[in-house]
Amino acid sequence: MVELKTHVTHVAVRTTQIPLYKETALYYRSDEGEWVLYKKPGEIISQHRLDTERIPRLFILTEDRESAAVEIQTSFNRILDESLGAGDVKTVHNCLVGIAVETLNEPRSGTMRQARRSVALLTRASTRDPAILKQITNLYHLDYTTALHSVNVMTLTLGFAHKVGYGWRRTLEFGLAALLHDIGKIQIPESLLKSPKPLTDDEFRIMRQHPIMALDVLDRAKMTLPKVRAAAIEHHERINGTGYPFGKTDISLVGQIVGIIDAYEALTNEDRPYRRAAPPGKALQILREETDRGYHMPSLYNRFLQSLSV
Ligand SMILES: [Fe+2]
Ligand SMILES: [Fe+2]
Repeated sequence: MVELKTHVTHVAVRTTQIPLYKETALYYRSDEGEWVLYKKPGEIISQHRLDTERIPRLFILTEDRESAAVEIQTSFNRILDESLGAGDVKTVHNCLVGIAVETLNEPRSGTMRQARRSVALLTRASTRDPAILKQITNLYHLDYTTALHSVNVMTLTLGFAHKVGYGWRRTLEFGLAALLHDIGKIQIPESLLKSPKPLTDDEFRIMRQHPIMALDVLDRAKMTLPKVRAAAIEHHERINGTGYPFGKTDISLVGQIVGIIDAYEALTNEDRPYRRAAPPGKALQILREETDRGYHMPSLYNRFLQSLSV
């Protein structure tokens, strides 16, 4: 199968993910610039082959993007399930970040379904053993991304839900809402998300649009769960009206919980080169002060504090 195309018909795949593709066809570009089929559906390129052979840069068809992302997520979910059973926290974390990356890269109904499954697997495992959430959040990572942040906010939110005693369904929805809370950021230019210096007023205005942009992304992905939508649009609102994008004071419970946990996670991680991470104690002190100033509900702050000391 050889075809010649001039517009963008193929997208590159990450080398680490090559062994995870089975049903997805992979292509490479010949010296003449033609797209050539490298692996047809049903075949697997093993890690061994990847390690020992010279394999060209591989691509998938643009139209296969969603199904390819779902295939990767399905593999991650299988590994996630196994490593949760084995108590392999590092692999659990890698799978969760991988699933978050695929969801953020390709927010469609298929990837959302797999993300929901990941949260369900983690919810089930952490119901049996809540300590696993803490171990996941405590893993240290050099490269702070939106995906990593989202996974951290999710594990902290699941810990909160367990502590408060939410039922299975509610816990799962809160976890998924937390995982997807920043999905609007995929509409924000990378240069702003990773800016090495503080943002200008204009840049801040754009950044603060991400909760509104989320609704569009969730619409396209057919994600209609009210809690997911509420968390995405309300997590930067504050009950005293000082938040954004609307400055509203009537904020849903999930919006408030994800909001306070998001603030905590952002404080304890080095998301920008010019901003140092605060140790957990310092971050909690800052949140306490914010609570005293009317940003958060005191009862929520207290419950979050308790959930951290599982
Ligand atoms: Fe946000
Ligand atoms: Fe966030």
